[in-house]
Amino acid sequence: MIEDVHLVHDALPDMSVADVDLTTEVMGRKLSAPLLIGAITGGAAAVRQVNLDLARAASDLGIGMQLGSQRAMMEIPKLTSTYDVRKVAPRILLLGNIGLAQARRLTDAQARALVDDIGADGLCIHLNPAMELFQLEGERDFKEGAETIERFARLFGDRLIVKETGCGISREVGKRLCEAGVQWVDVAGAGGTSWVKTELLRASRKASKAVHLSPDAAQPFVEWGIPTAASLCELRNLSCRTIASGGLRSGVDIAKALALGASAGSAALPFLRAQQATGSDGVRLCGRKMIEELKAACLLTGSRSPAHLRQAPVLITGRLREWCLARRVMDER
Ligand SMILES: Cc1cc2nc3c(=O)[nH]c(=O)nc-3n(C[C@H](O)[C@H](O)[C@H](O)COP(=O)(O)O)c2cc1C
Repeated sequence: MIEDVHLVHDALPDMSVADVDLTTEVMGRKLSAPLLIGAITGGAAAVRQVNLDLARAASDLGIGMQLGSQRAMMEIPKLTSTYDVRKVAPRILLLGNIGLAQARRLTDAQARALVDDIGADGLCIHLNPAMELFQLEGERDFKEGAETIERFARLFGDRLIVKETGCGISREVGKRLCEAGVQWVDVAGAGGTSWVKTELLRASRKASKAVHLSPDAAQPFVEWGIPTAASLCELRNLSCRTIASGGLRSGVDIAKALALGASAGSAALPFLRAQQATGSDGVRLCGRKMIEELKAACLLTGSRSPAHLRQAPVLITGRLREWCLARRVMDER
């Protein structure tokens, strides 16, 4: 659906490329561009290098980084080192990560330790009911979610991001998050990595021991969720700030997300693929390319900064337009 978002070309930009300033503030930290590496990994000796490569590149680029779920280090403290990237990236915006189902069981002190033990700036709580539902060993009980989020919002204030993992956030859920005191929401919408699909593949390789749901029940949900662009439209004009993710694959996609109101964009799979191919250099190249594309999109829309891009004319067509009209979230500009 991001293809249904059109930025309007400015043939007379009246500025030089050097005038485009992508500097952005996220959670009180200055980024060189409105970009974060999405939550990917941690928790096994084999992936420590992945986090170090991602962090080194994020540091060189001046962008932010979300770590993968810290569930493993909660259970086995010696795995903490697999998330510890501060020695290679002392100044980046670094965010810890935990699932809502695990967050619910943490005391306040344990929650703070998730952030403090790795020198992070804040925490992402991920919402992933679709993934849990179809994971063989996943959670089946989603109670007390809102009150857990309220507690974490009190604990972390503007250092908390609530994110999905590929199914997006609706306006209704966005309102509930804002009411709970959440200031940052990462939509992680449908259109990129599908965890239901991943779980389906995983289940097909394992002998199924699922008690509650057969992996076959996952098939109709492979594309389940709110597409990223639609989710951004759903959350427009709420009190929380948004990060766009889920299928963003270029700086132009990020530019479109900013034009829909996002404060920053994030991607996971492209950075992971780049790391797997050529390590930290690959991640750096991948990020630099996105940043250059975003800069070009700014110039070609006559936008000197991400803030200007958020005010730039944007056209919504096709299925996204239908979605926004049907959901009454169309914001004419
Ligand atoms: C390999 C991989 C592992 C991920 N692990 C986590 C995780 O631990 N916690 C989390 O919040 N999101 C996790 N995600 C979800 C991403 O952070 C992101 O929300 C989602 O993949 C959509 O972005 P993408 O389409 O750019 O991959 C993971 C994604 C990938 C590809």
